[in-house]
Amino acid sequence: MCTQSDVEALDLLIRGFQVSRMLRLVADLAVADKLSDDGVRNVDELASECGVQSAPLLRVLRALSAFDVFRVTVDGQVSHSPRSRLLRSDAPTSLRTAARFWAAPGSWRAWGELDAALTGGIPHQAAWQTSRFDYLRQHPDEARLFDAFMAGMRDNRHEAIAAAYDFEGAALIVDVGGGNGETLRHILRRFPRARGLVFDRDDVIEAIPAAARLDGLIEVQAGDFLQRVPAGAHIYLLVRVLHDWSDEDCVRILKNCRAAMPAKARLLIVEQLLDPDPQRGRPTAYLLDIQMMAMFGSARERSREEFERLLSASGFVAMRVIPAESAVSIVEATSA
Ligand SMILES: C[S@@+](CC[C@H](N)C(=O)[O-])C[C@H]1O[C@@H](n2cnc3c(N)ncnc32)[C@H](O)[C@@H]1O
Repeated sequence: MCTQSDVEALDLLIRGFQVSRMLRLVADLAVADKLSDDGVRNVDELASECGVQSAPLLRVLRALSAFDVFRVTVDGQVSHSPRSRLLRSDAPTSLRTAARFWAAPGSWRAWGELDAALTGGIPHQAAWQTSRFDYLRQHPDEARLFDAFMAGMRDNRHEAIAAAYDFEGAALIVDVGGGNGETLRHILRRFPRARGLVFDRDDVIEAIPAAARLDGLIEVQAGDFLQRVPAGAHIYLLVRVLHDWSDEDCVRILKNCRAAMPAKARLLIVEQLLDPDPQRGRPTAYLLDIQMMAMFGSARERSREEFERLLSASGFVAMRVIPAESAVSIVEATSA
């Protein structure tokens, strides 16, 4: 039997996209940053600082405040709620970048074409007539937002990897598809005798500031991991990379890693291991799976067994799973 609360809950889920879009709007304008922690500001003042009209901004803030994001009085005085404080850029667990990223134009329009996936198409391609990574190359603002979102995603994975795995004795660690290098920075702070190399697409590499390279401890190299991976390191990382690719492309990337790896090198795949039973998994894990479908078609989140199959199809012989204090796990593999 469905209850009135089921009806109300589903009705809100149905309209979730409206809330996402408003959250992106206020996060883009940095409204939360313009309010002091305990202060109150008139919406006219806020609107003028944001360079927008006051009346529509008030309506958006009023709708969000109905979800406990900001507090808004009937005469247009705006202040923070606990949830709106999370939209501040300087909040310790800030969700501002997430609010900007999930509903950013590239993703937003791809989700609009989600049906394309059901007949074998790629929603992002249907929406933009180009692949996700080519789109990012053509939209540098969104690309850097993506890099920042990956670096600051609220799964604590960078620190959790550094804490859960013993990198002692690894002279060189290559982070394949390492984004702006956040994972390596966390590892090298704990294991300062190691050196790191971030390998990623050219526009991502060019955007990494010199200060992020930890005084030369981290080198960077542009390239395409579908073609090759830098050779000779002791540890290879693939952190939230394989979920962007079909099984066929994953095998290609894994084989390129294997070809680059010296005999005793180790490969660490860091991904969430999807529980095929949605009653047991986190709801956000299944949402991320559909995000992959929207962006890349047959790319996906995978179970432990699915990673085992990919690894053995790519010539890796050993595998163990190391839990981390994060939604992700570390899957360690060697080729001999
Ligand atoms: C989901 S992000 C993961 C970033 C980082 N490992 C992390 O966990 O924050 C995937 C990364 O793969 C990179 N990438 C995509 N295609 C690539 C390719 N063909 N060659 C090298 N890097 C690629 C992207 O630029 C992006 O930085």
